[in-house]
Amino acid sequence: MEKFSIEGPVRLHGKVAASGAKNAALPALAATLLSDEKVELTRVPAVRDIRTMCRLLEHLGGECESEGHRVVASGSCVGGDQPDAPYELVKTMRASILVLGPLLARRGRATVSLPGGCAIGVRPIDEHLRGMEALGAEVELSEGYVTARADRLVGTRFRFHVPSVTGTENVMMAATLAQGSTRLENCAREAEIADLAELLNAMGAKISGAGGDVIEIEGVDALHHARHEVIPDRIEAGTYLIAAAITGGDVEVEGARWRDLEALTAELEAAGVRVERTASGVRAVGNGELAPTRVETAPHPGFPTDLQAQWMALMTQAEGTSSLRESVFENRFQHVAELNRLGADVQIDGRTAVIHGKRALSGTGVMATDLRASACLVLAGLAAEGTTVVDRIYHLDRGYEAMESKLHSLGAQVERFSAPMEV
Ligand code: EPU
Repeated sequence: MEKFSIEGPVRLHGKVAASGAKNAALPALAATLLSDEKVELTRVPAVRDIRTMCRLLEHLGGECESEGHRVVASGSCVGGDQPDAPYELVKTMRASILVLGPLLARRGRATVSLPGGCAIGVRPIDEHLRGMEALGAEVELSEGYVTARADRLVGTRFRFHVPSVTGTENVMMAATLAQGSTRLENCAREAEIADLAELLNAMGAKISGAGGDVIEIEGVDALHHARHEVIPDRIEAGTYLIAAAITGGDVEVEGARWRDLEALTAELEAAGVRVERTASGVRAVGNGELAPTRVETAPHPGFPTDLQAQWMALMTQAEGTSSLRESVFENRFQHVAELNRLGADVQIDGRTAVIHGKRALSGTGVMATDLRASACLVLAGLAAEGTTVVDRIYHLDRGYEAMESKLHSLGAQVERFSAPMEV
């Protein structure tokens, strides 16, 4: 199992380029199933979840060829008796559920494994299924699989009970090929949804309002060839901005879009970090002194849950007591025990973490439990005295492209290794 060994403390300094957004590239790849023609995606991040999605598309009979950050995919959707998205794939990547909408719309039938719980919470898919039913599909759950069927989906008016990101994407994709018009209400508003709509419109769909809470879709008969550049990854960018802050460093993330990061930059400023919009991205400059904050995660435009763990690492270095409430997922505090092993003083009270700062962190062996928890531990390791070894880096590889070389370029000493190492 691969690990990171991090020597700290370090002051990060320099520029780093944002990779493409994993959570925008995944639905974009699923959307290629909606057309027989080739769809070319650029700025696709080279991360494990993208490779998993490509394998899934190939398993479905689609094509998926990648070279560097360019992927060309098309969906022939062969079908057959096998499940479209078997448990083996879905359990490693919940975003596999994103093939449900496109397959149903295109082929009239889809069978996808139920994802089950995961490290950060229960994460049901009832909103996806209600949306498909509203479009006229018959949905059946049996032996751990969901099967949805419809001769042709029919446009509808549908309101999400909770603004689910992949739920909105799934139902929006399905509705592109429905007969008539669809109005989706209480949609998630994350930037990745607007990016997906831009791709779908380039493929010939008729979608308006994506990125807002009401999305309108005029169904069309077929979608076609398109080219699309995936947006930069706001969560990756945010992680490097927080890395600058926790190390009292100066980092510019090139390509980062200010408008996607406003909830974070406001909190960085509240903590005393200088943040500026530059000609090519966003820059954060820390001065080693951090004020405590009270932060609560929320759907966009609130503070992203995907930056909660990294923010917690930062607040261990603030002068005073901070609070951090996780409102999106019910169990996303698994990094707390590991942070405390590094010397942090974080207590959990229900959905709120109380972080007593400033605590000197000292390097030791820690275990990553999920993608963003891994990033949190890497950030803490950069600020800790001595060697921090982060185990189970495969979680990190799901969503961060070349993190060790990016951190290297900013002056950090981070090594990847697979042999057991004494700490
Ligand atoms: N929810 C339901 N029913 C549903 C769907 C969601 O109750 O049918 C609830 C969830 O349990 C959760 C809330 O709604 O409490 C929001 O979940 P959402 O569906 O928005 O999450 P998701 O679509 O499964 C995406 C990202 C996550 C990110 C969340 C929230 C992708 C592929 N994944 O997940 O990314 O945390 O939105 O922003 O886009 C990550 O990258 O580390 C990651 C976990």
